[in-house]
Amino acid sequence: MIDLTDIHVDGPTGPLLRKTNFSIAAGERVGIVGESGSGKTLLALSMMGMVSDQLTVGGVINVEGRDMTSASEVDWRLLRARRLSMIFQEPMSALNPLRRVGDTVAAPLMRHQGYTREQARARALSLFEETGITEPERRLSQYPHQLSGGQRQRVLIALALACDPALLIADEPTSALDAEVALRITDLLVRLSRERDMALLFISHDLAAVSRTTERIIVMYGGDIMETGSTRTIMHASRHPYTKGLLAARPALSTLGKRRLPTIPGSVPPPQDLPRGCRFAGRCPVEMAHCATERPALILTSTGAAACHRHIADDSGGQ
Ligand SMILES: Nc1ncnc2c1ncn2[C@@H]1O[C@H](COP(=O)(O)OP(=O)(O)O)[C@@H](O)[C@H]1O
Ligand code: SF4
Ligand SMILES: [Mg+2]
Repeated sequence: MIDLTDIHVDGPTGPLLRKTNFSIAAGERVGIVGESGSGKTLLALSMMGMVSDQLTVGGVINVEGRDMTSASEVDWRLLRARRLSMIFQEPMSALNPLRRVGDTVAAPLMRHQGYTREQARARALSLFEETGITEPERRLSQYPHQLSGGQRQRVLIALALACDPALLIADEPTSALDAEVALRITDLLVRLSRERDMALLFISHDLAAVSRTTERIIVMYGGDIMETGSTRTIMHASRHPYTKGLLAARPALSTLGKRRLPTIPGSVPPPQDLPRGCRFAGRCPVEMAHCATERPALILTSTGAAACHRHIADDSGGQ
């Protein structure tokens, strides 16, 4: 339903997202995973026509057969109101603190879909029921601060569903929630995607959350795709050193919430300091001499695609 071809985003100091191809089909559940600063949100914003004006977007954006590459802001707004929705990490900042949550959900129905006030309220109630909001009738007239973090995220999901979107992008939707509430929200997103045949793009730095939610995963680092494949392949037969690093850094379930999350050694450099070859050079445990200067192509493997010189060298019998 969405196809991005050679999409790229440039900032004042250079590339933030390198030429990338991406597609998601109707009803498909796809994950994007990578450390903070990998370009996950920029990729999502580019398919919503929402990249900041200070940045330049290039490439071709096709949504449900319609070329949106040079669409006007009005066209994008209409498309977002009818076909595409996005929810973010912090539900509190996305909700108006002075507005009852029922009114927040009802407003776009009246504005974009011609509902009367009563019809919009009834629809908001059914969306609250569908998203598992407790005591939905009473919640309609409550303010955001009267709800828990998990209930607030459900309100945002209800709001995102109000226009019956063909695609829901959930950008770190569980990062501000505790582990148990996060699990329930990911389960809810999977159920909604199945019941509504709605495509779901689930973005997180947490590989475990992404693997529970999706059928296919894209691993990003430094504004580049490192590896893609089915969720099973990425979790059990990954070919890329960065993905393997993310897998190794996963906390054991028994230590969840008890200590700091383990991480890949080193930290993500700012975009202007990233190597021009493989973005992971400098942190990669199996780096080769030409890695920092030559960008590895995304090469098809038997089960997906990986961008790594080592993987190519090993497969061809070298090294
Ligand atoms: N509006 C912007 N202006 C300048 N740099 C930006 C802007 N938005 C994002 N970036 C930079 O682009 C890179 C990718 O950002 P982002 O897509 O938000 O990463 P992620 O979602 O994976 O954490 C980061 O280095 C970030 O600082
Ligand atoms: S291309 Fe080189 S630096 Fe990049 S992941 Fe592969 S081995 Fe590591
Ligand atoms: Mg982000």
